[in-house]
Amino acid sequence: MKTRHHPLLSPIALVSTLFLIAGLAFTLWMTGGRAFSPGDLSAVAHSPSGLGFEHHASFSDDCTQCHTPLQGVTADRCTNCHSEIAAQQAAGEKLHGRLGELACVNCHTEHLGSDVDLVAVALADFSAEDHALLFPLDGAHLTLDCADCHSDGTYSDTPTTCAGCHQEPAIHANQFGTACANCHTTADWQSAALTAHRFPLDHGGMGDQPCASCHLEQLTRYSCANCHVPQIMTDVHAGVATDNLQACTSCHQLATSAETERLQR
Ligand code: HEC
Ligand code: HEC
Ligand code: HEC
Ligand code: HEC
Ligand code: HEC
Ligand code: HEC
Ligand code: HEC
Ligand code: HEC
Ligand code: HEC
Repeated sequence: MKTRHHPLLSPIALVSTLFLIAGLAFTLWMTGGRAFSPGDLSAVAHSPSGLGFEHHASFSDDCTQCHTPLQGVTADRCTNCHSEIAAQQAAGEKLHGRLGELACVNCHTEHLGSDVDLVAVALADFSAEDHALLFPLDGAHLTLDCADCHSDGTYSDTPTTCAGCHQEPAIHANQFGTACANCHTTADWQSAALTAHRFPLDHGGMGDQPCASCHLEQLTRYSCANCHVPQIMTDVHAGVATDNLQACTSCHQLATSAETERLQR
């Protein structure tokens, strides 16, 4: 009786398996692993890169440019080429210098096709959470279009203070100063309330004083003469070296006795 091999161990099966493996190995060798690639890499370039390649598709066969074996895509591979990003991170400046420990793949992906613009993809995926690492998008700002604050597709050098984007309104122009956030939040303009005031409103043990006791005409100016008689002030400060005695808060920021003692030394 002839011995019967298990069908998987028959000489024909073994030979064809060998051929299959050899064929796969040959294809991998010829394509550098592209057979396992989930899609084409971007062939869009914005400017001559100076990185030795035109775009990512120029090295699509060389997976290890971006993939570290057994670890996947790691930042060090990306910054090997993108030294301008590494420089931003080292300096803690610009967009990439202020994103903390976030991995590149949180915002940048690949294999989406050769005509895909990687910068456009990153911007489209840039969430309010990502944005808060630079500037919070809350209140009325949350529902705006990106272009309301970033016109002409320019993202860098956007003003960060309220007054950098908002004009003082006619009802209090030149009256309240330009530190808008002392009184306003991004919720709306109407519910205004003073939430930050550097000089204590209640020093001297008399409780909170009305605004007009120091701000005679407008909030951008102050006078202490309502209570501290100017002639007496001149006498008290006779031994104090100063070019401008009227700039009281250049010395008295807290108006406490501890501070005065410090100033006396
Ligand atoms: C320009 C850089 C780059 C090159 C070159 C590259 N990839 Fe990728 N690849 C990526 C990025 C980015 C991702 C997304 C990773 C993520 O979302 O975690 C990715 C994802 C993948 C994934 C999905 C699984 C995973 O790790 O997330 C596979 C599979 C893959 N790549 C295979 C390949 C193969 C095979 C090659 C070479 C033929 C290759 N890649 C070349 C950047 C690259
Ligand atoms: C072998 C060098 C090399 C590696 C590695 C590399 N890149 Fe690139 N990258 C380039 C080149 C070249 C361009 C095209 C430059 C251009 O558009 O000005 C580019 C373009 C980009 C762009 C679009 C820039 C633009 O202005 O259009 C992004 C975003 C980007 N790469 C992110 C990554 C990320 C994330 C990784 C790691 C997963 C990575 N790159 C790995 C060379 C590299
Ligand atoms: C929080 C999201 C986020 C992370 C994390 C991130 N990027 Fe970006 N990246 C962006 C956005 C958004 C842009 C587009 C910025 C613009 O147009 O001003 C960009 C642009 C780029 C560009 C184009 C050139 C430039 O300076 O505008 C490159 C290259 C790049 N990123 C590489 C990287 C690399 C490498 C890493 C990881 C070390 C990384 N990015 C991490 C969001 C991110
Ligand atoms: C209310 C105004 C406002 C809106 C709306 C807004 N941003 Fe911004 N964005 C800013 C400000 C302010 C900065 C600058 C932060 C800084 O430099 O400290 C900034 C910075 C950025 C940066 C970093 C630029 C760089 O190179 O440093 C990117 C990228 C960005 N915004 C993308 C977006 C995207 C995408 C949207 C829409 C989803 C958006 N922004 C909506 C105000 C806004
Ligand atoms: C980068 C520019 C930018 C900065 C910085 C900025 N805003 Fe805005 N803000 C806008 C734009 C654009 C709008 C929508 C158009 C408008 O109402 O002026 C807006 C709308 C608002 C609104 C809603 C107005 C309404 O009528 O509904 C309020 C309130 C507001 N901002 C408060 C603030 C405050 C407070 C700050 C500072 C903490 C600030 N903004 C900083 C650009 C900015
Ligand atoms: C000292 C507090 C204070 C500061 C600082 C301040 N505001 Fe106001 N703001 C107010 C008060 C109070 C109102 C009146 C609120 C109401 O309508 O009941 C107001 C009203 C407004 C209004 C609504 C005007 C209208 O016609 O209804 C706008 C817009 C506004 N402020 C913008 C600003 C901007 C922009 C800045 C900074 C350049 C700023 N404010 C700084 C207190 C302040
Ligand atoms: C006891 C004196 C005193 C009282 C009372 C007082 N302020 Fe002031 N205020 C000052 C001084 C001093 C400064 C300047 C702070 C500095 O230079 O550090 C100032 C600054 C300000 C500013 C900033 C002006 C600018 O140039 O940006 C605003 C707004 C303001 N005060 C609002 C108020 C309001 C509203 C009240 C009433 C609720 C009030 N202040 C009550 C002493 C006072
Ligand atoms: C160059 C710093 C400087 C400036 C500006 C200044 N002071 Fe003084 N102030 C001092 C010093 C130092 C003393 C303590 C003088 C001493 O005891 O010889 C003092 C003392 C005082 C005292 C008395 C405290 C006590 O012991 O009773 C008052 C009140 C006072 N200053 C208010 C003001 C007022 C109001 C202004 C603005 C009109 C002003 N100062 C400007 C430095 C300054
Ligand atoms: C409503 C009245 C009033 C106004 C307005 C006022 N003060 Fe006073 N201040 C007092 C009183 C009361 C004391 C405690 C008695 C004293 O030392 O003269 C005092 C004490 C002080 C002291 C001494 C603190 C110590 O214990 O050494 C300083 C400094 C001072 N004020 C600075 C200022 C400055 C600067 C301004 C203007 C921005 C100002 N004061 C406005 C009532 C006022």
